[in-house]
Amino acid sequence: MIQCPRGTRDFLPDELEKRRSYEAVLRGVAERFGFREIETPIFENAELFILRSGPGVMKELYAFKDKGDRDLALRPEMTAPVVRAFVDGMSNDPKPIKLFYFGQCFRYERPQSGRYREFFQFGAEIIGSATPETDAEAIAMAASMIKALGLKDYKLRIGHIGVLRQRIKNIGVPTDRTAEILQKLDKKLYDEARPLLKDMGVKDEDADELFALTETVGGTEVLDKVPGEAGDYLKKVVAYLAAMGVTDVEIDLGVVRGLDYYTGMVFEVEAPALGAEKQICGGGSYTLSELFGGEKVFSTGFAIGFDRILLAMEKEGIVYTPKNPDVYVVAAADSVRPDSFRIASQLREAGMIADVDIMGRKLGKALRYAAAIRARWAVIIGPEEIARGKVVLRNMDSGAQDEVVLADLAASIRA
Ligand code: HAM
Repeated sequence: MIQCPRGTRDFLPDELEKRRSYEAVLRGVAERFGFREIETPIFENAELFILRSGPGVMKELYAFKDKGDRDLALRPEMTAPVVRAFVDGMSNDPKPIKLFYFGQCFRYERPQSGRYREFFQFGAEIIGSATPETDAEAIAMAASMIKALGLKDYKLRIGHIGVLRQRIKNIGVPTDRTAEILQKLDKKLYDEARPLLKDMGVKDEDADELFALTETVGGTEVLDKVPGEAGDYLKKVVAYLAAMGVTDVEIDLGVVRGLDYYTGMVFEVEAPALGAEKQICGGGSYTLSELFGGEKVFSTGFAIGFDRILLAMEKEGIVYTPKNPDVYVVAAADSVRPDSFRIASQLREAGMIADVDIMGRKLGKALRYAAAIRARWAVIIGPEEIARGKVVLRNMDSGAQDEVVLADLAASIRA
């Protein structure tokens, strides 16, 4: 038997219907925030991701050569593609440009619960603006999306990568080795960072101060301790968030992010119930366009890990109610089979999900099938009833059935 590749999944109808319905919830929030949808290719020139994504993404990249010897890669994320598309075709549009996207991304990771090789992101980018209002708008939209899905137990942490980058520079880390240090700080691997820093000539006490900085965590009061202009900047972000009703935020200068392109505010949302793979959303402000041949343009964005947020909802007991068929239409005799199709099509035109027997089953078997597909009603068409302009309407839950006038069928089902 051939199975789907490791780290990928099939989405069977029950699961896919649920996913589509939650995707529609997120889409609705994005639209109400004034974002418009964008779609980019699933594979890109590999260079797009190699330029700035950082070593973490590089080793997870699904890269390959095509028959024309081009170096391509499946997208590991969608920010770089969206910015490329902006440089290609939208760079003269009025700013800010607010875009959202939903699609699959690919990373060669070790699969486990909540971590896949093919996974889905719902994300957004605000291109061409670098204000605290921009950052607040992005964070508020992420928070609204999480709330709209009904998730209760989550933690939103906001940091500032600019503060860490500045400190790393000040203590003498060469620019081309910053990413290496940030990667260790991201995972709080201070014991591994220390010898690296020593090797770069950084003093022990400076290393300690750097580690202490990444441990700066708390309410907005800790912003007084944030060095430089970043503290005041984040205070404004937090104030705008409060104006939009987003108050459950924590300041955490240890938010480093796994990707390399961030420059200022960074944020993450985690769902503690998920254990190891608990990060359900990540984002921040960045610049990328200058790497892709455009002007330098400041942007802020985020992506929700769609698979993970659904897992978190499941853990919280959020149950999806499936859209079952409204009606299943059955002919009780061969002579009235054409009537069953006529009636099914009238019900469909009336906007109902109406299924009809296409296997010529006997009544008992057809009703068992109707129950199996969870139809709410069965319409049974008998030669004698139809001659009187009537059909039998059966409630599939209770088994109760009644004759109804054919002309009133849709109305009776609705009632
Ligand atoms: P990221 O943090 O790498 O950010 O990914 C965003 C989210 O995707 C993560 O928080 C996580 O929920 C989900 N995710 C990542 N890898 C996997 C995986 N292997 N399996 C399941 N879910 C996964 C970005 O990708 C940035 N492009 C976000 C962004 C947009 N920053 C600015 N704009």
